[in-house]
Amino acid sequence: MTASPLPMAASAQGSYVYDETGKDYLDASSGVLNVNLGHGNPQVLAAIRDQLAKVTFTHRTQFANRPLARLTEELLAVAPAGTGHVEYANSGSEANECALRIALAYHHRTGSPGRTVVLSEQPSYHGMTAGALALTGQPPKLDPSFAPLLPSALAADGSRVRPVPGALRAGTEQWRHALDTVGRARVAAVIVEPVGGSSSGAAPMAEDTLRWLRAEADHHGFLLIADEVMSGFGRTGRWWACDHAGVAPDLLTSGKGLTGGYTSLAVTLVQERVAAAFERPLGSVVLGHTMSGNPLAAAASLAVLRQLRGQDLPARAAVLGAELLERLSKLGAPYPLVTGVRGRGLMLGLGLSGDPARPLELSRTLIAAARRHGLILCPGGIDATTESVMVAPPLTTSDHELTELLRRLECALGELPAPVR
Ligand SMILES: Cc1ncc(COP(=O)(O)O)c(C=O)c1O
Repeated sequence: MTASPLPMAASAQGSYVYDETGKDYLDASSGVLNVNLGHGNPQVLAAIRDQLAKVTFTHRTQFANRPLARLTEELLAVAPAGTGHVEYANSGSEANECALRIALAYHHRTGSPGRTVVLSEQPSYHGMTAGALALTGQPPKLDPSFAPLLPSALAADGSRVRPVPGALRAGTEQWRHALDTVGRARVAAVIVEPVGGSSSGAAPMAEDTLRWLRAEADHHGFLLIADEVMSGFGRTGRWWACDHAGVAPDLLTSGKGLTGGYTSLAVTLVQERVAAAFERPLGSVVLGHTMSGNPLAAAASLAVLRQLRGQDLPARAAVLGAELLERLSKLGAPYPLVTGVRGRGLMLGLGLSGDPARPLELSRTLIAAARRHGLILCPGGIDATTESVMVAPPLTTSDHELTELLRRLECALGELPAPVR
């Protein structure tokens, strides 16, 4: 193995990570938008220790487990209205695979086996497993050698919905055109990121478009899947990014903020109406993985969820996010290569206008400069239009840490090259 150019992480506490030399890094990206409570949360660590001493693994076919039962109960209290079933997986990719299995099986059982096309957007990111990758609108992730892995039956001509040139997200007209092209009777599901993740650098889809898709799905019988792996669990200032549009999707997948980075767990939340189409318990139809919903992961996630609810951190993300958006906009204004700030709550993206001949190089330069100044940022975007860095600190960030984040970011912005003319 070659030596990594990255600092070697030694420890972490709250919003800071420390490397082996003792240098501190303010984590302005919450890991990859998953460490929503910060590091070393004492209540979560205590819950993990407590569960470690009791039982770490039992299989769902052999035992029920108390932390998972409680987690399901408490999840249902914050899940979108009408949620009737929670299916567990270990990663966001797996949760999306599960949503696809449920959508296809649902149509089989309800007399529409011909509904096999799933529409998705470009840019988008849905994960690295085969089905999720097949729906991912992100050319750099789709190495041509992967083609035999990707189920082409899921997609069809026109099933990848693209924004108009220069726009960050597809609007209603582009979705309408895709549905017209494919034919609504062939569509099993539409999958969207209500606020885009790494592929668009936190670009929200228009709320009208999301509401329009909900109405089309209701009218024409396909399912609406919201991929909230990144945007869920309060990150955008509401429990679910779909809440901003007042939409409840048929299937909602989430992960990162569920565990806060303390363990691996992800969920597919299923509307009661969809779950009711299955004669056997849904879990026994769509199946899972060895570690799905294991007691240790459930105990950690339950403790995370209780912190999110107890401290009302979604509301905190709304307030802090509004302040960060305003201060970031002011901070970026003097820099010609900064195009503006987008996003919702604490899921923000700083748009960059790099050299079109070298897309994403500018974001790499800024991220490296930020790291030298002790600030961690995530890359966003897949091309010159979407190029950005994501600014998404933990929901527990203090006012003082927010000011320090902006100070370090200003130092990094000061190192940006002159614009290419
Ligand atoms: C929107 C979205 N969907 C799916 C995934 C895949 O999740 P995982 O990396 O846990 O498989 C991610 C991960 O970043 C994501 O942001």
